[in-house]
Amino acid sequence: MTTNIITFSNVSKSYNETKVLKNVSFEIEQGKFYTLLGPSGCGKTTILRLIAGFIETSEGDIRLEGKRVNDIPANKRKVNTVFQDYALFPHLNVFDNVAFGLNIKKVPKKQIAAKVMEVLKLVQLAGFEDREISEMSGGQRQRVAIARALANEPEVLLLDEPLSALDLKLRTDMQYELRELQKRLGITFIFVTHDQEEALAMSDEIFVLNKGKIVQSGSPVDIYDEPINRFVADFIGESNIVPGQMLEDNLVQFVGKNFECVDGGMRPNEAVEIMIRPEDLTLTSIDQGKLIIKIDSQLFRGVHYEMIGHDAEGNEWVVHSTRKAQEGTEVGLAFDPENIHVMRFNESEEEFDARLESYEEE
Ligand SMILES: Nc1ncnc2c1ncn2[C@@H]1O[C@H](COP(=O)(O)OP(=O)(O)OP(=O)(O)O)[C@@H](O)[C@H]1O
Ligand SMILES: [Mg+2]
Repeated sequence: MTTNIITFSNVSKSYNETKVLKNVSFEIEQGKFYTLLGPSGCGKTTILRLIAGFIETSEGDIRLEGKRVNDIPANKRKVNTVFQDYALFPHLNVFDNVAFGLNIKKVPKKQIAAKVMEVLKLVQLAGFEDREISEMSGGQRQRVAIARALANEPEVLLLDEPLSALDLKLRTDMQYELRELQKRLGITFIFVTHDQEEALAMSDEIFVLNKGKIVQSGSPVDIYDEPINRFVADFIGESNIVPGQMLEDNLVQFVGKNFECVDGGMRPNEAVEIMIRPEDLTLTSIDQGKLIIKIDSQLFRGVHYEMIGHDAEGNEWVVHSTRKAQEGTEVGLAFDPENIHVMRFNESEEEFDARLESYEEE
């Protein structure tokens, strides 16, 4: 039995002559929290608008619960959107904002009142029915917008950067609340953000987008630990990336030295890129270091020091350490074989998955 609630098959979208989505395919399972993550202009809102039915595809098919919906209008889809600016009606109070869609559908008054109370309770705004929108804080408005969407009992809730207007503390609180709400309701959330930490914290599954394409998809841990290329590595977390050469399976060369690693399935002596996370590097003495760097500068970041240095070949290295180092001195860097991530040039997600599978089988 298929549980896919949304399927995109080779969907493209063009405005005038410009393709802003290119052959996008993905499947969304019922009841999970998905995040579309990518830089400004990569096509995140476009995907949400296609799902909601506000715009039409140029090519390809969209299916909701297996049924092709290319020609089904927005109001016939069991999908609701929470917009970035919340799009609340400032002249209506909280109750009337939340009741808006139900009034249009001519739901009986008594039923509307019950539903409004139920969803306001869900977002922890019971008792705020008579408040004017102008008298609500940013976080409260955001919850009204979510309550309004939930009142329509959608199977899929689309959230377009709903937290971007909030300050850091409130934003973190709302991340917990949204995640809890999604678990409690068991409906599918598709959440848009360009904040990588938010995506990692909230999602069951992340789609990383760049220039109208999905570059990589997977669980937060998969994407963080196994980025397929420089774009994903850089976009999700901080990374050190240096050129290298894959000598054979489990043996890679960079900065003029050979290192044991856990990757394979490349051509012998293939040119590759090496990525190591700053938190996977440990400061050590020069004798014990696998690499030697000279510290150029360091900053105290609260939990750790962040140092920037360079190796003998001039590659820059960022290190996170609870220990302080001396600027201008040389230090050793230690790391484990599994912290070395080898990335091929121009490898697609399909090729990456296939290589991993065949390599790990051996
Ligand atoms: N109605 C339109 N007409 C022409 N071009 C458009 C239209 N809507 C969006 N675009 C273009 O499509 C591309 C993708 O836009 P989209 O709004 O999906 O980006 P986004 O990933 O949501 O970005 P942001 O993070 O800035 O919201 C952009 O280059 C944008 O300029
Ligand atoms: Mg957008």
